[in-house]
Amino acid sequence: MVETARSLTVAVNSHPVVRVLLGSRCSVSLIVWSLVGCILMIHFYSLIHQKDREKIHIGSSHLSVTRELEEVEEENLYFPPPRGKRSPHALKRRGPRKPPSVVDEFLDESSEVHALFFPHRKSAVNPNKKGNDSMYYYPGRLWLDTEGNPIQAHGGGILFDERTETYYWYGENKDGPTYQAHRKGAARVDIIGVSCYSSKDLWEWTNEGVVLSGEETNASHDLHVSNVLERPKVIYNDVSGRYVMWMHIDDANYTKASVGVAVSDSPTGPFTYLYSFRPHGFDSRDMTIFKDDDGKAYLIYSSEDNSELHVGPLTDDYLNVTSVMRRILVAQHREAPALFKYQGTYYMITSGCTGWAPNRALAHAAESIMGPWETMGNPCIGGNKIFRSTTFFAQSTFVVPLLGLPGSFIFMADRWNPSELRDSRYMWLPLTVGGMADEPLEYNFGFPLWSRVSIYWHRRWRLPEGWRTA
Ligand code: GAL
Repeated sequence: MVETARSLTVAVNSHPVVRVLLGSRCSVSLIVWSLVGCILMIHFYSLIHQKDREKIHIGSSHLSVTRELEEVEEENLYFPPPRGKRSPHALKRRGPRKPPSVVDEFLDESSEVHALFFPHRKSAVNPNKKGNDSMYYYPGRLWLDTEGNPIQAHGGGILFDERTETYYWYGENKDGPTYQAHRKGAARVDIIGVSCYSSKDLWEWTNEGVVLSGEETNASHDLHVSNVLERPKVIYNDVSGRYVMWMHIDDANYTKASVGVAVSDSPTGPFTYLYSFRPHGFDSRDMTIFKDDDGKAYLIYSSEDNSELHVGPLTDDYLNVTSVMRRILVAQHREAPALFKYQGTYYMITSGCTGWAPNRALAHAAESIMGPWETMGNPCIGGNKIFRSTTFFAQSTFVVPLLGLPGSFIFMADRWNPSELRDSRYMWLPLTVGGMADEPLEYNFGFPLWSRVSIYWHRRWRLPEGWRTA
C-alpha cells in the first residue's frame, strides 16, 4: 500500500498541469496521502457494516434459536379504497374530501380496516385450546386467560418474582364502558383498578384478580372511579420485602398529572394505596419505574407538558423519589417509556404524543440511566411502511428480559381501541440488541456508539427453546 502511494505521488507530481496548479510538491503528497487515508477509512467502515449486517441476521446472542425471530416478515395488507365520496354539489362547494389516512380508518370502528386490526373473538389466543397453536403469540388477536376471559392488563408491565419463580403481569383493567367525560375529552373508562395475572411460561396467564381497586364512594379519593389510573408497574424491594406499585394518577382532564404509590406484602395483593404527588414538583403523565442490578430503582416520567422526560432515583424503600432529577430527551415530546438494560447500557423505547392514536416508536440509549440519552431511530423492522411508522399500530409499555437469551427481550405494546377501550389488544414482539444503529447520532463523529435495538414484526411467533435457562 505504501509503495503504491509513493508511485502514485510521483506520477501525480510529475504531471505538468498538477505542477502548475499546485505549485509545490509537498501539497500534492498531502492530497495523495489524504486520498489513501479516505479510501482506507471507507474500506474499514464498510467492513464493519458488513459484519454488523451479518450480525443482525444471525442474532446478537449468537444463538441460532433466536434466528427465526429475527427473520424479516413483510405484510401485504389490502386496504379497502377510502369511503365517503362527496356529492357533486359538495364537491363543487368544498372540493374533493381528503381521503382518510390508514390511521384514521384504523381508529374508525365502522371501517373495514378497523376490523382487520381487531379480529373477532373466534381467532382468540386460548391457553385452554392447546394443539398446534400452543405457546404461539398472535399480536393483535384477543388473548384469553385460563378461565377463557380476555386479559385485562393494559398499559402494563411484568415482574419476575424470584421467590415464587413466577411472572406477574400488572395492568389497567379497562373492562367497563368507554365514554367521553367532555365533548372534546379523550375516550376513557372509569377506574376499575389494577389487574394481576400470573404465569410460569409468559403465555398461559391465570387471573389473580384486581389487586388495587377503584374507589366507588369517596369522590375526593385519587382512585375514585371518575379519575384516571394508568401504566401501573410493580417492583420488589429486597430490603423491606414488599412489592411496590407506581402508577400515573390523574383527573378526567389530565390536569392532576401525578404519580401514585401502593404497597403489598404479596405479589398478588391486595395493594394498599399510599398517596399521589407531583415528583420533584413537576407534572408527570406517562411513566415507568426501573430496578437496576444494584437494587437502586428509578422513576422516569413525561413532564413539562410531555415535552421532555425526567429521571430520578427512588428512595431505598421505593416509596418516594429523592431530590435528584435530570431532564432527558428535552423538547423531543416523547411518552410511554419502556426501559431495559443490556451489557451495562441502558435502552429505552418511547412513543410520540398522539393520545390513543399510534405513532412512530424511537429507541434511545445511555451509558448512565441519569443521561445523557441519545436517540437512535425507529426500532421497528418488517411488516410494511405503515406498520413501522405506527409501532405496528401500537404503543410501548414494557420490555421483558429473557434471562436465558442474553440480548433478547419481549417488547410489550398496547394496540389501543379508543372506541371500545376494553377491547384494546396486546402486541408482544421479539426485541433484540445487536448490530449497528442506523440513524446518525449526535456525539460520535459518524460512528454509532450503541448497538441497534430491533423489534421484529411477526404475525405468529413463539419463544425459542432455552429462553428460561439463566
Ligand atoms: C396516551 C398515553 C396513554 C393515555 C392516552 C389518553 O398519550 O400514552 O397512556 O394516557 O394518552 O389519551
